[in-house]
Amino acid sequence: MLSGVQSLLFTPLTIRSVTFRNRIAVSPMSQFGATDNGVAANDWDLVTAGAYAKGGAGLVMVGGVTVCRAGRHNPHALGLWCDEQRPELARVARFVAKQGAVPGVQLLHAGRKCKEAIVADGRAAGDDGHEFIAASAIPFAADYMCPLEASVEDIEAVCRAHVEAAVRAVDIGFKVIELHFAHGYLVHTFLSALTNSRTDLYGGSLDNRMRFALSIACAVRQAIGDHIVLAVRVSVTDYCPDGWDVKQTVVLAKRLKALGVDLIDCSSGGLVSGAGNSSMNPTAIQIESAGIIQREAGVATAAHGLIVDPHQAEHVLTRTGAALVIMGRALINNPNWPYMAADALGVEGPAVNGMFKVAAGKPWGTRSHWRKQVADLQQQ
Ligand SMILES: Cc1cc2nc3c(=O)[nH]c(=O)nc-3n(C[C@H](O)[C@H](O)[C@H](O)COP(=O)(O)O)c2cc1C
Repeated sequence: MLSGVQSLLFTPLTIRSVTFRNRIAVSPMSQFGATDNGVAANDWDLVTAGAYAKGGAGLVMVGGVTVCRAGRHNPHALGLWCDEQRPELARVARFVAKQGAVPGVQLLHAGRKCKEAIVADGRAAGDDGHEFIAASAIPFAADYMCPLEASVEDIEAVCRAHVEAAVRAVDIGFKVIELHFAHGYLVHTFLSALTNSRTDLYGGSLDNRMRFALSIACAVRQAIGDHIVLAVRVSVTDYCPDGWDVKQTVVLAKRLKALGVDLIDCSSGGLVSGAGNSSMNPTAIQIESAGIIQREAGVATAAHGLIVDPHQAEHVLTRTGAALVIMGRALINNPNWPYMAADALGVEGPAVNGMFKVAAGKPWGTRSHWRKQVADLQQQ
């Protein structure tokens, strides 16, 4: 039996004052089960996040959670734009923490990919009359409404909305705040020259295109205090010529780090409709970028994209130097994946699990005893 120290995947990680029991993180995966007002209305979010926490992950990311009603990527997306949305998400954060995992939340504004922006009945605005904004008035696809170019007032309001949502999230127990700057959502449309044709302070040069992202990160860091981990999810490439790329991501990552961002979550794609690749269909550069950004920007990174196998996860951490692996579909498939991974890697694995708690103090309840029994049986 190896100790956790010999497996990087099961070596605890501390960032600021937050300790993750291992380096397995659950990717934010929207469930779209909230009420029309963004409240986690039933037990689905609790049970889903709870299963990942009970299943042994080190970090359980909840979300995407929208920062304002006009920024919803789905009419049933979770929100944290008002206090009414706090209690149910607080319950999720509390349960996740009780299982020994760190509760994290991803905050977003979907910009021109707001669900109501899809042309349905010819309306130019959402169900409550809000307009859709993006860096420039360029629609995502033919069946999406054309967004309005965000005014400076819009930009400042969205920045404030991120701060207010982040403060609510911290108040109700989340220890990691992730800002969603990827997948073609609002901030990504500012970063990429393909979707930003502005001529003001928020468009043109790389410095200008990064201004909105940097101002949100800076304001959120100041508002949440020193002990909370601040992460940013980026699309490291648009998979398109002249689009956002790894080189620009390195520059952004350096600037974000200087503002107190602790972790860059390396995703990809989602900006250009029809570009074949995305975080759901990544190329090797998505995982490799976690190494490049970690080395060149000197900031901790999370590697993700089709990580499904324990040895693969271990190898990704070793090769790239990423601090965490972030996993989506493999954990949907098996929320107890961390226990399976511990067995596959021959380590004791996560310490907290309901079954083992019940059996605490009884020899048959320990994983090593259980495995020895199996070995003995196989000898008979
Ligand atoms: C059901 C589902 C919902 C998702 N929702 C989000 C989301 O809200 N925010 C986000 O950044 N990514 C979202 N993603 C993308 C995942 O976080 C992740 O990037 C993607 O699944 C690739 O990781 P994987 O190959 O380990 O599944 C979602 C993925 C799935 C399968």
